[in-house]
Amino acid sequence: MKSSKLFVVLLGFALLVVMCGPAFTAEKTAKDTIILKGNPMGGVKFMHTAHAKDRKIKCETCHHASKPEKPATAKEQACSECHTKVAVAPMKTTYKLAFHDAMAKKGTCIDCHTAENAKGKKAPTKCTECHQKANV
Ligand code: HEC
Ligand code: HEC
Ligand code: HEC
Ligand code: HEC
Repeated sequence: MKSSKLFVVLLGFALLVVMCGPAFTAEKTAKDTIILKGNPMGGVKFMHTAHAKDRKIKCETCHHASKPEKPATAKEQACSECHTKVAVAPMKTTYKLAFHDAMAKKGTCIDCHTAENAKGKKAPTKCTECHQKANV
């Protein structure tokens, strides 16, 4: 009898820990609109909610898994915390290259836009459709 009572108490405690677990880690939430800055041509007004929620794009499409050269310290950490304007070894990918290649023909933001436009959408692929002085 004694040991089964103990079991019930332990089980209850385990359930409580499981249920309360996620509440202990305060998760950061993204703003609806994020201005990505750095290019003197102008900032990029990125609609985070429109992409992640309305268009149902999976988080990991843009937020890649942690990599050994610079492991992540949080889920969906800001790209800018690891990808800087000038890459610091062992990092090779600059802030720009995190989003598109040298000529903006390929990359995280461009590959999908090109594919969507082939299906009749109007996602920006030209420099000035993304980089605008008005985006501050
Ligand atoms: C289309 C690309 C894309 C998708 C999809 C996406 N994100 Fe993001 N997210 C970004 C970019 C770009 C930033 C800004 C990074 C920066 O400021 O350097 C960001 C920022 C964030 C931030 C703020 C990070 C910080 O520390 O400031 C959080 C949190 C976040 N995203 C969570 C999510 C979650 C959760 C999902 C899935 C539901 C998601 N994101 C889907 C591109 C994306
Ligand atoms: C915790 C650090 C960290 C964060 C945050 C981070 N990255 Fe990375 N990323 C890396 C590392 C490490 C590499 C591999 C080394 C390199 O290429 O510089 C990498 C590589 C890349 C590459 C090169 C291709 C590849 O997969 O190797 C792209 C593109 C990229 N990241 C985009 C992004 C984008 C977009 C975001 C934000 C939505 C982001 N990264 C956030 C650390 C990070
Ligand atoms: C998996 C697909 C996908 C990815 C990845 C993606 N986008 Fe988009 N984006 C879209 C679609 C779809 C549209 C809307 C096209 C339309 O309405 O015709 C769009 C539209 C936009 C627009 C126009 C304003 C708006 O939101 O309607 C901007 C600016 C934009 N994207 C920036 C970015 C940036 C910056 C990145 C990289 C961080 C990115 N996108 C990554 C699919 C994507
Ligand atoms: C889909 C949107 C998008 C398109 C299209 C695009 N870019 Fe970008 N670009 C970005 C984002 C996001 C960043 C990161 C924020 C920043 O540095 O302004 C970036 C960064 C850059 C940077 C780096 C600035 C720095 O601080 O080092 C340069 C240069 C650049 N882009 C040039 C171009 C050119 C040239 C074109 C056209 C051939 C182009 N981009 C098209 C989204 C775009």
